[in-house]
Amino acid sequence: MINHHGPRRKLFEELVGEFFSPWNQSATNPCSDHSIAWSARPRAGILAHNEIMNSMRRAIQTGALKPGTRLVGGAATENMRAIRRAAHCAHRKVALRRRDTLFREKSPMRRIIIAITGASGVVYGVRALQLLKEVEDVETHAVISPSAFRTAIDEIDMSAEEIKSLADVLYNHKDIGAALSSGSFRTAGMLVAPCSVKTLSGIANCYNDELIVRAADVCLKERRRVVLLFRETPLHAGHIALMDQATRNGAIVMPPVPAFYSKPNSLDEMVTQTVGRALDLFDIHLPMVKRWKDGPGSPGQH
Ligand SMILES: Cc1cc2nc3c(=O)[nH]c(=O)nc-3n(C[C@H](O)[C@H](O)[C@H](O)COP(=O)(O)O)c2cc1C
Repeated sequence: MINHHGPRRKLFEELVGEFFSPWNQSATNPCSDHSIAWSARPRAGILAHNEIMNSMRRAIQTGALKPGTRLVGGAATENMRAIRRAAHCAHRKVALRRRDTLFREKSPMRRIIIAITGASGVVYGVRALQLLKEVEDVETHAVISPSAFRTAIDEIDMSAEEIKSLADVLYNHKDIGAALSSGSFRTAGMLVAPCSVKTLSGIANCYNDELIVRAADVCLKERRRVVLLFRETPLHAGHIALMDQATRNGAIVMPPVPAFYSKPNSLDEMVTQTVGRALDLFDIHLPMVKRWKDGPGSPGQH
């Protein structure tokens, strides 16, 4: 029998409209999962069984009804035209949805490059991959330097394999012939989390001998977002000059400095907040990020 809260019901009602939902049929006209008792709405009118069947076929093709759905009972209904309209509407919506999906898959806005380098705070890059895994229409393209894996040994309880498995697409850091090396491979940009002095230097100086720096340089030349969670402390003039140069090249230098006004309960929350704020810069807005609220006694915005 019908699952009253099932996804099929939701899909049907979304596409065809509640009025025609088989789940709306009366109890005296029970429906099985594969049948619709249209006779639940008998009306004086033309028995246009074929036309109704055609409409149903169309609804099945569009996914609004399950394949194998049968029309049971009398099919007399004055609403036949409306059924056709509903099926047509369902067809159109599904077509639009498909087109939208295709568009999204090809859209540059939905691919993001995540690079993890050997600075302290490998967890930032790992968290970015974890969070983005939950975002349906974002595809992560990851490059992880050998030093990042080395740092991970000291900092987090995850194996190299576990970290790698978080990426949708993983690249070898040495492969300067990878897709990310070309501007024709369209992405929303690149997050380097964390970003070491070495990688910052490479990006500032366009020293494109490995994939992370090359991909960042490509994003910058294509005027795409590059966000660097640069991590070192304290800083000498050379570091500051590199930040300045990277900024002039178009990158956003965002040292992972925690905000305390959000009163984080744990290190974990602090990391998520920082990564969330970095992803904000790519217009990826995660629900767990704490946001500024106006009002008396509110902390300042940062
Ligand atoms: C545990 C650990 C922590 C490190 N922390 C930093 C750091 O905070 N900032 C930094 O620039 N380098 C740091 N390093 C050194 C970098 O890993 C090193 O400079 C490396 O060459 C960076 O290479 P990459 O940018 O290709 O990952 C750290 C290394 C280790 C092992």
